[in-house]
Amino acid sequence: MRNTQRLDKILSNSGYGTRKEIKKLVKQGVVRVDGEVVKDSSIHVDPDASVIEIGGKELVYRKYIYIMMNKPAGVISATYDSQLPTVIDLLPDEYRHFNPFPAGRLDIDTEGFLLITNDGQLAHKILSPKKHIPKKYYALVIGEVTEADVDKFSRGVVLDDGYKTLPAELNVLRAGMCSEIELIIHEGKFHQVKRMFEAVGKKVKYLRRLEIGSLRLDEGLEPGEFRELTGEELESLKASVGDSE
Ligand code: URA
Repeated sequence: MRNTQRLDKILSNSGYGTRKEIKKLVKQGVVRVDGEVVKDSSIHVDPDASVIEIGGKELVYRKYIYIMMNKPAGVISATYDSQLPTVIDLLPDEYRHFNPFPAGRLDIDTEGFLLITNDGQLAHKILSPKKHIPKKYYALVIGEVTEADVDKFSRGVVLDDGYKTLPAELNVLRAGMCSEIELIIHEGKFHQVKRMFEAVGKKVKYLRRLEIGSLRLDEGLEPGEFRELTGEELESLKASVGDSE
């Protein structure tokens, strides 16, 4: 299938500046498509089928980026906010010019694995309530988390709005006045983990997402740090959401 796009869009996605800057660059005659100098930045080109050169250097075109971020507390999972810093604000320009967005939300005080991409189709699949993609969390919970809670979570608990959650796997790492747990849920309702614990009379004090589908947060990433997914991780994620075509 042909994938033609405007030349200025291809070049701006590749970090060559704004459309206006690219128009100027192209006018200077330094851009070639399949060996021919082009002067019009609005022409349509298939970056997979054509060779694009800028100043004699061949462009290696990428349409999508996939970033694993260890979201820190204090930033919001959005592309823009008039008051608060967003996860996108943490990225350098070389990623921001792809117009990425977070595939899902973590609360402002939640840390951990956030996938940031501009691949709308993959994001849609990860977030689709029909796919039941598992998400694993680590939490510190005020109050003693018991075997009765494990049992309740495994059957689904009723949230404050009357919604009964899907079965979830609760693993108690340490039970006490402040318990340490891991929880796998298969859906993503608003404040879901916090509300599930509220449903059994407990309060989440600290929350971190560890896994999305088949992918685990890189332990080498400190809160606020990020890196691109490896090819292998991307393939595995796509396979786990049924997007391997
Ligand atoms: N559940 C929550 O309560 N908060 C999050 O940020 C993610 C899941």
